[in-house]
Amino acid sequence: MPEALLSARGVEVRFGGLVAVDGVDLEVRAGEFVGVIGPNGAGKTTFFHTLSGVLAPNAGRIVVGGEDLTGRAPHQFARHGVARTFQTPRVFRDMSAAENVRFGLEFAGRARRQAQDIFDDAGAILGFLGLADVAALPAGGLTPARQRLLEIGMALGARPRVLLLDEVAAGLTHAELEACAQLIRRVRDELGLAVIWIEHAVRVLMNQVDRVAVLHQGRKIADGDPRAVARDPAVVEAYLGEEGEPVEAAV
Ligand SMILES: Nc1ncnc2c1ncn2[C@@H]1O[C@H](COP(=O)(O)OP(=O)(O)OP(=O)(O)O)[C@@H](O)[C@H]1O
Ligand SMILES: [Mg+2]
Repeated sequence: MPEALLSARGVEVRFGGLVAVDGVDLEVRAGEFVGVIGPNGAGKTTFFHTLSGVLAPNAGRIVVGGEDLTGRAPHQFARHGVARTFQTPRVFRDMSAAENVRFGLEFAGRARRQAQDIFDDAGAILGFLGLADVAALPAGGLTPARQRLLEIGMALGARPRVLLLDEVAAGLTHAELEACAQLIRRVRDELGLAVIWIEHAVRVLMNQVDRVAVLHQGRKIADGDPRAVARDPAVVEAYLGEEGEPVEAAV
């Protein structure tokens, strides 16, 4: 088995007495598409914070491309090829769509080269996302769905090897959600990135990913083939009482 591009081992995050992330392991290989699901408050976003340098874990290690980055700053993670979006949208509203993408590029610096030319060119990134026609418009005037795509564009501007998406499709209509899922799939298929995707839309996510990990009360309770995970009794149990679609109906 090839060495993992991103490896989290025994990651723990405490907020006072609350253990928000409780000994989570996750291995992601180059080009792999991994979903992360779990009920509200399961620790998904907090776990992402540790994978991108936003939070230093209280215990555990984060290794990217063979280098231990545990506790390092976000720009260090970016330099090593980790890019992310945030659950709360963060486009610069007064800057144009193209300027937003260029900001992502500046954030990571130009040190790391990528095989794909697309990463050198904000226009090409916007074209890939279907946003070429709004490149010069202020980001704040775009539809919510297009702002979410632009956030992916900002992350792509950082020339990542692994892209972390935190509910990037939240609040979209069903048609927009399907289109967004297809686009995320193309990021992996056509740009060759590893993608780790958190989303509550379990059915749509399960249909796209290679593998899905389930967090519940800070612990990883399942990790594997989406069809097998959806039938896992511990996963079904974790989702009982959750609003929305039951996990067993997802595949
Ligand atoms: N900065 C913080 N200070 C204190 N507690 C926090 C903080 N951030 C998160 N928490 C708590 O940690 C737990 C995990 O939160 P987290 O946001 O990681 O969950 P999540 O799985 O992303 O949930 P959601 O699906 O609602 O986004 C929750 O109980 C949350 O209230
Ligand atoms: Mg979250």
